[in-house]
Amino acid sequence: MENPNSVMNPEVHSSWDTDVLIIGSGAAGLRAALAASEQAHVTLITKTTLTESNTHYAQGGIAVAMNLDDTIALHIKDTCAAGAGLCDVGAVEMMVSEGIPRVAELLDWGANFDWEGTLPRFTQEAAHSRRRIVHKGDATGRETTDVLIQRVRNTERIRVLQNAFAIDLLTDADAERSGEESVTCYGVSAVVEEQAVCIRAKATILATGGLGRVYPCTSNPQIATGDGFAAAWRAGCEMIDMEFVQFHPTTLFLDGAPNFLISEAVRGEGGTLLNIRGERFMEKYHEKGELAPRDVVSRSIQNEMYLTQFPCVYLDITHKTKDFILERFPTISSTTQRYGLDISIDLIPVRPGAHFMMGGIRTDTDTQTNIDGLYACGEVACTGVHGANRLASNSLLECLVYGARAGNNAAIFASTQPAHPPNLPVLRNIGTSDALSTNTAAEMDMDQIKSEIRETLWENVSIERNGEGLQDSFTVLQDIAESLGDMVTCTDTRDISAIETVNMLSVALMITQSAIARTESRGAHYRADFPAQDDTTWQRRILISQDNPPEIIPL
Ligand code: FAD
Ligand code: SIN
Repeated sequence: MENPNSVMNPEVHSSWDTDVLIIGSGAAGLRAALAASEQAHVTLITKTTLTESNTHYAQGGIAVAMNLDDTIALHIKDTCAAGAGLCDVGAVEMMVSEGIPRVAELLDWGANFDWEGTLPRFTQEAAHSRRRIVHKGDATGRETTDVLIQRVRNTERIRVLQNAFAIDLLTDADAERSGEESVTCYGVSAVVEEQAVCIRAKATILATGGLGRVYPCTSNPQIATGDGFAAAWRAGCEMIDMEFVQFHPTTLFLDGAPNFLISEAVRGEGGTLLNIRGERFMEKYHEKGELAPRDVVSRSIQNEMYLTQFPCVYLDITHKTKDFILERFPTISSTTQRYGLDISIDLIPVRPGAHFMMGGIRTDTDTQTNIDGLYACGEVACTGVHGANRLASNSLLECLVYGARAGNNAAIFASTQPAHPPNLPVLRNIGTSDALSTNTAAEMDMDQIKSEIRETLWENVSIERNGEGLQDSFTVLQDIAESLGDMVTCTDTRDISAIETVNMLSVALMITQSAIARTESRGAHYRADFPAQDDTTWQRRILISQDNPPEIIPL
């Protein structure tokens, strides 16, 4: 029976207690909630609606080594090759092997993926040596979230709060502690239906997804402003690999159309890329042509746009029949149709956009951060599974595997905690002095500041970077930080747009600082002034935290 409390916000109180708090309702957060609820009471909060997440828009599918000619070893090999020498091989092994039962379980729970005889219909994507992507047409994310949400709704021990915006993690960082004693997290401050709320938890899981919206061109929906990265940073989390932002080669470029991805699966099904002159160009850049790694395809497209002085290139899938396209790509064909394109006869105008963050909150394979009681999973976390570049369709797999691990581990931790958290100065974070801050926020045009952040990142910290441009952006971002003043360190305001602006600024600074530090090119990080991969100096990772400059650490 459906849990009646699960999706309607129960009466909002100024303070809530729960065993395990999960922030985010994408694949990682939903899967974590299901795992944690086997042992604990769970509260799951989400910024807008339960269905709104990057996961919901995922198109291509989930990579899993289940095909008859496939092996775990081959999937690990392909993942590590894409990761360009920076993958944590142990974490990859775990994802690929535990991914098989996680996907099987999803099918068991009713995921209606495309099927062929006795097996899922596996499709091909770039840099995979086998056809291993399970999918539901081009709407795999929607099918995945539908199945997970249905189970969450049917689980009585999970309480869901929608329109609940997490601001800051509550920790005992300021408390007296002896010697080596570490900081502990006790939940989060949030704005729920315009009320400031404090949600206290014995264990907290950050599953807040990505940050594509810090760039003007992106495949990500509006929720992806990097809030979780910024909150973790303010709480003292170690952040790692933040220079590695993946740019998807093909987002729709049409006047008036919203940000919309044209799945790599279109190229997997034989789609070709043409410049404005009608010339096919990928073969001149890479032997694998259109199925070269994403960073290569994105850079090649950008170069063709520069050479032809035209703001996009074209994707051609017209060799396929209309029936095939309608069945295989229903979402893409109906969306493009709304803007007057019939992709069985028309070329699709595309250009690259920010898509995925490889780096994030540093965790071990138990999803534990450097703060006790705080776990992170999905796109906001970094176990090192993706290295310097993510293999297509490995993200949903990561969310299922590490989401389940996070839920399980957080519930175990919660069971060791006292019934009530210590008395913390929590209200400091949730806006008791909001008059001053709200005035400050009101005086500034947050949309304008967000645009400035996006423009400078797009100009200098995107597909191709160089030292001078990176430094320019760093200066611009520092100037913005100065103009925002106290808001950068003290998010004591209930103006969500202002908090998002502060969060976007923090992640922009983390990406830029890390990109300045890495003086080589690797995976998704391409420095025109250091075009070669330098394994001698740089088969290393960059760690940053609030109080420390970037630190280079061994693999
Ligand atoms: P998300 O799914 O983004 O969920 C994050 C959740 O956190 C959301 O519910 C959000 O509202 C919530 N949240 C954020 N901030 C706050 C806050 N301050 N307070 C409260 N809640 C908050 N990967 C694949 O493997 N295969 C694919 O086919 C694929 N296709 C993709 C297509 C598109 C268009 C996009 C954008 C991504 C695609 N990816 C794909 C990547 C993949 O979808 C994501 O990396 C993955 O879904 C991330 O899941 P997540 O659970 O970590 O985060
Ligand atoms: C796509 O469908 O092209 C996106 C797949 C992914 O990001 O893994």
